[in-house]
Amino acid sequence: MKEKVATNLEETILLEEKFQLATYKKMPIVAERGEGVWIFTSNGDRYLDLYGGHAVAGAGHCHPHVVRAIREQTEKLLFYSNLVYSETRARAAKKLVSLAPDLLTKAFFCNSGTEANENAMRMARMSTGRENIISFGGGFHGRTADAISATFLGKYREIGKPNVPGHLQAEFSDIDSVRAVADESVAAIMLEPIQSMAGVRGSAPSFYRALREMCDARGIVLIYDEVQTGVGRTGDWFFAGSSAGDGVVPDIVTLAKALGSGVPVGACLVTEEIASHIKENDLGTTFGGGMIAMAAVTATLEAIENDQMIDNVRTVEAYLRERLKEVEQVVAVRGRGFLLGLEFSDPAKPFHEAICLLRLYKRLWPLIDADKRTEGRFGGLDPRESAANWV
Ligand SMILES: Cc1ncc(COP(=O)(O)O)c(C=O)c1O
Repeated sequence: MKEKVATNLEETILLEEKFQLATYKKMPIVAERGEGVWIFTSNGDRYLDLYGGHAVAGAGHCHPHVVRAIREQTEKLLFYSNLVYSETRARAAKKLVSLAPDLLTKAFFCNSGTEANENAMRMARMSTGRENIISFGGGFHGRTADAISATFLGKYREIGKPNVPGHLQAEFSDIDSVRAVADESVAAIMLEPIQSMAGVRGSAPSFYRALREMCDARGIVLIYDEVQTGVGRTGDWFFAGSSAGDGVVPDIVTLAKALGSGVPVGACLVTEEIASHIKENDLGTTFGGGMIAMAAVTATLEAIENDQMIDNVRTVEAYLRERLKEVEQVVAVRGRGFLLGLEFSDPAKPFHEAICLLRLYKRLWPLIDADKRTEGRFGGLDPRESAANWV
């Protein structure tokens, strides 16, 4: 009989810690099952999931329509490349384009947000014959070489060294800072229309309009990284074309995260003008446009549409904003829809971290060998003793 890999929460945690690189600060729970807004853990706890696994569960966990579509596809064909036509892919492309602003008429499918941004920048360079890219302080665009070089946020460019040359920085919401660097060497201006990791920072609609006008005047491609803001998250299908952005439609929109309800998928949506510069073999990926991902995309978009989730985002946003007024410690609520940032009167991070660490320690402590307890991540502290001070 096959050995059972993990029997309980503690064992699962210890196995992951032992056999995976320690690249993530994890919450001390084992996610076992998801249903709509709920995530259930292996020890039977139920959490209202406001995090959505990095904003992936936009249509909720395991939406029945999405699960059915994926299951049906798995029984037909798991994968075939872009060298053949596929009804599943055709339907996904049509559905996605039909929901996008009219000017965005063609899709290119890949596998992640960072890959979508790499391809967007490549298309901008190909369309303009120029090389430089302007992006903004506080923006995040992914971790592959070009995308991380466009990420002027915290330590990321440092992690990505050596950086790809030709990345210029401007200040978000400050059109003069963009004007100062937007010369004839610039292929594209790329931005998160609402900067998520910088603490959920948006801008006045006039900023997006000014960017559009400058790009038109100077022959620069405008790219919206909508990996966070797209697929209904902000109460519109896309930030592109929305009233929050003064109706501005960029030349390229990039998407990922919620697009496949958890099946890895990224996409670029482009205008006819951009498409006219892209030839056979200019872009490519083995897995992009694969059938499982494409079935997930169509079903995810249908689920959001059929269940009127975008209306729900607006309703729940209004409710949250109203109720958050009652919380004295919340001094500001930024963002739109379900991309909201709360500013607290006191730093929230140390408190959050302490609670998470405490839960983890409480579960793991009895399992750690006595002689290991003073090492590295376990720090020599028995938090059970001070539990009463924290929770
Ligand atoms: C705005 C934005 N762009 C790009 C990415 C990169 O996406 P991925 O992790 O799918 O490569 C992220 C990821 O968090 C993101 O938030």
